[in-house]
Amino acid sequence: MCNIDIGISETARLEIAEGLKHLLADSYTLYLQTHNFHWNVTGPQFRELHLMFEEHYTELAPAVDELAERIRTLGVPAPGTYSAFAEYTSITEVEGVPSAFEMVAILNSGHEKVVKTARKVLAAAQESDDESTASLVSDRMRIHEKTAWMLRAIQGDSKLDSSGLEFAA
Ligand SMILES: [Fe+2]
Repeated sequence: MCNIDIGISETARLEIAEGLKHLLADSYTLYLQTHNFHWNVTGPQFRELHLMFEEHYTELAPAVDELAERIRTLGVPAPGTYSAFAEYTSITEVEGVPSAFEMVAILNSGHEKVVKTARKVLAAAQESDDESTASLVSDRMRIHEKTAWMLRAIQGDSKLDSSGLEFAA
């Protein structure tokens, strides 16, 4: 077996890879949830939301690949099964078909969760001067934060927010 000698200790590599597994699982789960809502959304905003959800899952598809390949670059097997993703993700699956408004709130919460998971990996990467992981993760955070803002904007000034939804907790 070839040794990895990129100036990051084995302990740090394993810790960062572990954090990336959580980020990958969150991103993949959010990808699936966004695709699910793309398929099942109904109502007056159908076309707008159907197309916006497509934009979001299309952005997520290459992102999960990047994250998995960074885990591999650090010398660790990447999770790639539904059971592994279910174990690692912080995003709760939704039963049934929520309303269009609920879908937006659920996805808003999902993007926020990804950001929080990313923040933990970022700290681990920065601690070990792993600039490559830090850069990748920070790019992901910026995109998810922006998407969360857009999803909040769609919800307008409604009193209902993602933290108040039981199924999005
Ligand atoms: Fe489609």
